[in-house]
Amino acid sequence: MRNSTDRLATMLSHLARPAQDARCFVNPPLTRGSTVLYPDMAERRAAGKQRLEQALIYGTMGNPTHFALENLVAAIEGGSRCQIVSTGLAAVTLPLLAFLKSGDHMLMPDSVYGPARGFAEGMLKKLGITTSFYDPAITAAGLAALMRPQTSVVYTESPGSHTFEMQDIPALAEVAHAHGAKVMLDNTWGIHFFQPFEHGVDISIQALTKYVGGHSDILLGAVTVNDDADWEVLRTAAGTLGQYASPDDCWLALRGARTLAVRLEHQMRAGIEVAQWLAGRPEVLSVLHPALPGAPGHDLWARDFSGACSLFGVVFQPRYSVEASHRFAEALTLFGIGASWGGYESLVLPTTGFITRTAGTGDFGGPTVRLHVGLENPADLIADLQAGLAALAAP
Ligand SMILES: Cc1ncc(COP(=O)(O)O)c(C=O)c1O
Repeated sequence: MRNSTDRLATMLSHLARPAQDARCFVNPPLTRGSTVLYPDMAERRAAGKQRLEQALIYGTMGNPTHFALENLVAAIEGGSRCQIVSTGLAAVTLPLLAFLKSGDHMLMPDSVYGPARGFAEGMLKKLGITTSFYDPAITAAGLAALMRPQTSVVYTESPGSHTFEMQDIPALAEVAHAHGAKVMLDNTWGIHFFQPFEHGVDISIQALTKYVGGHSDILLGAVTVNDDADWEVLRTAAGTLGQYASPDDCWLALRGARTLAVRLEHQMRAGIEVAQWLAGRPEVLSVLHPALPGAPGHDLWARDFSGACSLFGVVFQPRYSVEASHRFAEALTLFGIGASWGGYESLVLPTTGFITRTAGTGDFGGPTVRLHVGLENPADLIADLQAGLAALAAP
């Protein structure tokens, strides 16, 4: 497998740190603050003109802790500028508010992260913005047929939430750009393994809450762009909306990021080992893990990604009920039942009945669960899953 964690490991040991020849501590300091003091009015006036820069203006415009994390995430994503926001969901909603206006139309994949769908169907609809949901496996021609003169955003998420459909991002981006629309991508699963700006994406979204934080103890999001005009739109919206992220959480994200590559390396391998074991079990209809040869979307993953994280789906044989899939989850002792992902601990989430689909893509052939593989020994996880499968199959 092509794998970019080696390059990531070196990057993450050196990015966003004070200069090595300065007499200082290894890590950027944790800075908290609202008021910035100026020596005189000339500097006060000059600061107001620096709102697109990493300048000390006022607390909401960021401080050195935010700037360090912005630089680190922009480098991971291969973009030029990054805005850190309070949560991953805020990283979804901020660019939508920034780049859409009343009367616009947006295209969103049917497999989109649920609260992003909720934002489109609730807040954006109220603001006069309409959204059509499309099959995530749509072709370029299929997308072109859905574009309207008012379509200004093509939203993407690859692989999709819970069911891991891969999208042909370069092909979709070409169509979107030909119609003058922006391409947004929720790149939380791809992290660094998918380089959004090399594949036609304009605005990349990350929930840093997941693998970057890595310890299930922070909430944080990032929006990265690679174009000065896009940065001005995004940065202006962030300022207008009063977006802000806790410096304590940013500092913890910086700490988490230092070990991201080794955690991802372990979790990628462990996730694939566990997924492969599950794929060979008679209770399992299919495993929704794009890095698994033969799995749905594997070809696109192999073409565009240099690695994989450890979040994937499992579809049980249709002879098992949804209640049986709940018994499976409850029988596990190393996988906690819970939302979110990317921490050091393994998680399970039964998903049948909890996901909304409106573009006819919701039938997977049997009850589904989502697994997140943490840093435990995969052999222990497999033994735990064996007990879970026994509970699934119990009469
Ligand atoms: C794909 C995806 N995007 C965004 C988010 C939102 O992140 P947060 O929980 O930090 O709001 C999540 C959270 O589960 C997610 O799975």
